[in-house]
Amino acid sequence: MVIAVSEAGGLGSLPCALLGADDARAELRKIRQGTSKPINVNFFCHRPPRAEEAREAAWRKRLSPYYLELGLDPDAPPPRAVRTPFDEPMCDVVVEFRPEVVSFHFGLPDKSLLTRVRATGAKILSSATSVDEARWLEDQGCDAIIAQGYEAGGHRGMFLSEDVSRQAGTMALVPQVVDAVKVPVIAAGGIADARGIVAAFALGASAVQLGTAYLFCPEAIISPVYRQALRAAKDDATTVTNVFTGRPARAFTNRLIREIGPLSDVAPAFPLASGPVLPLRSKAEAAGSGDFSPLWSGQAAALGRELPAGELTKRLAGEALALFVK
Ligand SMILES: Cc1cc2nc3c(=O)[nH]c(=O)nc-3n(C[C@H](O)[C@H](O)[C@H](O)COP(=O)(O)O)c2cc1C
Repeated sequence: MVIAVSEAGGLGSLPCALLGADDARAELRKIRQGTSKPINVNFFCHRPPRAEEAREAAWRKRLSPYYLELGLDPDAPPPRAVRTPFDEPMCDVVVEFRPEVVSFHFGLPDKSLLTRVRATGAKILSSATSVDEARWLEDQGCDAIIAQGYEAGGHRGMFLSEDVSRQAGTMALVPQVVDAVKVPVIAAGGIADARGIVAAFALGASAVQLGTAYLFCPEAIISPVYRQALRAAKDDATTVTNVFTGRPARAFTNRLIREIGPLSDVAPAFPLASGPVLPLRSKAEAAGSGDFSPLWSGQAAALGRELPAGELTKRLAGEALALFVK
């Protein structure tokens, strides 16, 4: 997908939050062989949580009825949560492959890591979900700010606040961020067709970032239940929940969200909540059910089209340009 998007004139992005350094290296080797166009490599940069025995035990207890229902042993040690923040080994990968753009989610990494990234010549981006976060990122030297509205699929990039009830939508957030910072602003959240792109530019954005729309592409590595949920998507199909990882993220509303969420006090800190959910997810998905899967999606999923990623990129750009000149 990264190759196809970059070849089509977009900025293909490789998300590395779920990859180890060697996996990222292997992906980047393939990508650099497949395109000489600019690419973006993306990392999470959360603070690793302290282990909280009691909280994690309470979470496992909360999930144990589902373990029993699915024929799993609730006392078996759960798999480890897999998301690791950007660190020295990942930074070595950046230095080796020199992606033209490096983006972060949940703020920015420590100064020493950021300095090493900057020394590669990469443009540095990060997501802001509020004007305060945008200003903070600009002060730290970000080259552009991704303004992530509440409509967006996946994790909220929020890092200065934990209160999701105060998060602004894209329409309100983008112009306020544009007014607050001098660097270019990239609009994200709920943009899935040419109308959304043109609207974002009218709000002052210099670019757009689309996530959910690309889940429809054949290149997206997603499960059959995920694809089914995308095809059935409606405007009101998603919820912001912390039950899958411990951090708020927008996903298709499913059984786990409905029954123990959407925002649970019991869920341990990011990413520790995800470990005990994994066995439930695997067992249910094997039986064709998405009841326990994090089906990340933004609010505009129903606008998605099943096109190859390169074709989608070209069509979106062409259709947006046509709307501009109208
Ligand atoms: C399936 C999925 C996975 C995502 N993973 C990441 C990620 O790893 N890093 C990141 O910075 N943002 C991630 N996002 C958020 C996107 O960067 C972006 O903010 C969002 O997709 C924009 O809203 P939209 O989904 O309505 O297009 C993800 C979004 C989705 C839908």
